[in-house]
Amino acid sequence: MSLGEKVLAQYETYINPGLARLLRFMGLSAVEREAAGTIVTDSEGKRMIDCVGGYGTFAFGHKHPQIVQAVAEQLQRMPLSSKVMLSQPMADLAEKLARITPGDLTYTFVCNSGTEAVEGAIKLARIATGKTKIISMIHSFHGKTLGSLSASGKDLYREPFAPLLDGFVHVPFGDAERLETVMDDQTAAVLVEPIQGEAGVILPPVGYLRRVRELCDRHGALLIADEVQTGMGRTGRIFACEEEQVVPDILCLAKALGGGVMPIGAFIARPSLYEPYIHAPLLHTSTFGGNPLACAAANAAIDLLLEERLYEQAKQKGDYLIAKLRLLADRYPGTVQEIRGRGLLIGIEFVNEEIGGLVMSELIQNGVLTAFALNNLRVTRMEPPLTISKQEIDQVAEAFANALAASLPLTQIS
Ligand SMILES: Cc1ncc(COP(=O)(O)O)c(C=O)c1O
Repeated sequence: MSLGEKVLAQYETYINPGLARLLRFMGLSAVEREAAGTIVTDSEGKRMIDCVGGYGTFAFGHKHPQIVQAVAEQLQRMPLSSKVMLSQPMADLAEKLARITPGDLTYTFVCNSGTEAVEGAIKLARIATGKTKIISMIHSFHGKTLGSLSASGKDLYREPFAPLLDGFVHVPFGDAERLETVMDDQTAAVLVEPIQGEAGVILPPVGYLRRVRELCDRHGALLIADEVQTGMGRTGRIFACEEEQVVPDILCLAKALGGGVMPIGAFIARPSLYEPYIHAPLLHTSTFGGNPLACAAANAAIDLLLEERLYEQAKQKGDYLIAKLRLLADRYPGTVQEIRGRGLLIGIEFVNEEIGGLVMSELIQNGVLTAFALNNLRVTRMEPPLTISKQEIDQVAEAFANALAASLPLTQIS
């Protein structure tokens, strides 16, 4: 029995038989063994360029030496916090975040994941405004714990758990007029991804985020930017909301914040919202949130982001990759509907799911890992590390051309 079969059997027996079946059906039975930079190597020694990038986690690639070293040093000193003494790594991280986030975003709460960052932002919005209504977007993705799921805009994941939290309203993304119709004085916050990731890399019309900011100001509502996927340089700016010089009231981060080495999440807020938590600082807490290992990783990641200006690299490399992919798509009509993105957050929308699925498995055959957008299976996203080289981008493009060629017979059927 191969290692892949053995691990799949363990998934089947001890994790979830349905998941094992799905992975088998998708031909995903390789076992990951190690990773460095842009490359993931499986147990058979096959090397793959990682264009899934942990759904945005590996902005710095896998196992970046500077980040690993920071974590290793912290591991030797003190991995987890005593919780009763002061933590320098957490204080350093909060200070760095205050410096790099826009406007007067100042106070940071550190947690362990994206969904926790969103949960924390929703709670802060409610307690700071004394209101409960949260407006979020159709097809949005904010995580799968109950509060974040109530905000997420995909019924497939919501309905089995209904009723979810009260007070959540969904409107189409990118449509400021529709948003205006549901905003009222009971609105605590509008929660929005500057670019929708799991919806299939959807860019809103130019000026949209600024309009949302104006509407929030007019109705006394807060703007929560979920930058769990777009933050930390991915879209060509440190934070995607900077594209329109918008300062949110609360900014949610996770994924790449941990430098691809540690799990971490955070929300950063304007001081004016913090009054209730200043009076009762223990109202929102987490045992592992702000742990020294994760904070050491995040501190090293932020230093690297600034030193290497990785956000600028994301813009240049993204423009280059998108242009190449579009040229190739034009050569294989009937396969691709649209290629879109900003920086190295790229979505390839296929004419149907079958072609998308085949291209994805052909890409794997050709040594490139990609993944579906969770809320739109016609879209494959490419989110490689921002450290990807030009030569690796060319390899990705070549693999894409081969995969499109292999999918051509399906275009004749459809
Ligand atoms: C925009 C956004 N928010 C929140 C989340 C949830 O993050 P996590 O999976 O770490 O809970 C995700 C995950 O994909 C995301 O893309």
